[in-house]
Amino acid sequence: MEKEKLLQRIPAPLLSWYDSHKRALPWRENPTPYRVWVSEIMLQQTRVEAVKEYYLRFMKELPTVEHLAACEEEKLLKLWEGLGYYSRARNLQKAARQIVLDFDGAFPNDIRLLQTLSGVGAYTAGAIASIAFGKRAAAVDGNVLRVISRLTENATPINDIAYRKALEERLTAIYPPEGELCSRFTQSLFELGALICKPRSPECAACPLSFLCQANAHNTQALFPVQPPKKAKRQEDVYVFLIQTDEGFCIRRREEGVLKGMNEFPSKVVYGESASAVLDEWGVYGYQELARERFTHIFTHIRWDITCVWVRAESAPFDAYTLDEIREKVSLPTAFKQCLQMLSHYGTQNQVQLIP
Ligand code: ADE
Repeated sequence: MEKEKLLQRIPAPLLSWYDSHKRALPWRENPTPYRVWVSEIMLQQTRVEAVKEYYLRFMKELPTVEHLAACEEEKLLKLWEGLGYYSRARNLQKAARQIVLDFDGAFPNDIRLLQTLSGVGAYTAGAIASIAFGKRAAAVDGNVLRVISRLTENATPINDIAYRKALEERLTAIYPPEGELCSRFTQSLFELGALICKPRSPECAACPLSFLCQANAHNTQALFPVQPPKKAKRQEDVYVFLIQTDEGFCIRRREEGVLKGMNEFPSKVVYGESASAVLDEWGVYGYQELARERFTHIFTHIRWDITCVWVRAESAPFDAYTLDEIREKVSLPTAFKQCLQMLSHYGTQNQVQLIP
């Protein structure tokens, strides 16, 4: 069957399957543009199960775009702590301020205007336009690429921009008439990718599109979608220092590299230098090493082999916080969380009791 014809036959069976199989997800209740937008940004590169709790907390703390626009950066980063890709949170706030200042607090319902918002690309604009405004606009994410690549046995690597663009256009052409059905159609594609057309073990016997699916017909599900070759991660040796002074543990803001702008326990990528050489260079004074442990942390493009060194020092040229402050107020990326846990592991609940 011709590929266009295949696509045209998707909506009816998929929509009826969605009605009886959709999950109850918090962002599906009261899908205002603000709620849909925040959910879609959180769901980028992050699993639904991981997002749920963050989403509920975020909506409780920042229920409107005005709240988000006015939120202090540290509070915002704390709400985002652990979700990763922190530029998403910063862009979210930038866009909230654009909406308040340039659009009088009301989201534009036009897919092109939506894309003028910080951090909103074709995918997010399509998701907001279709889910919140009922527009005929496709939202092509990894789930959708997988579903359609299998359905049509398309062997184009899924990072190919032209393929994604073409798919956006072809899918938009088969959207139902404007209104609630468009919202359901976008979500039905996500849902099929998440529940049935899974990356490793698709459940074709339960799939409402199996009768159309070329990969199912030829048993080639494992060959699609075609992934681009994986790039090797850059490896870095990193010291992370838990520098404990009378005031608490030192925290500073990262000035460069991965996690730029985020808080950290002072760290340094090293090429064979000793821990004391780094501490001396920073001007940490009167220090004594208490413990060290090794951890690994994997970013998208980098692998950190961390040596975490806990020292007691007389003084250090960084701000210091008590452990309670660090846990409750300071946003700390996951890469540094293992170091924080290392302290609990040594039986440390409270910095005053720490010092031998
Ligand atoms: N993945 C991306 N967006 C989603 C949504 N709105 N619901 C479920 N999974 C998603």
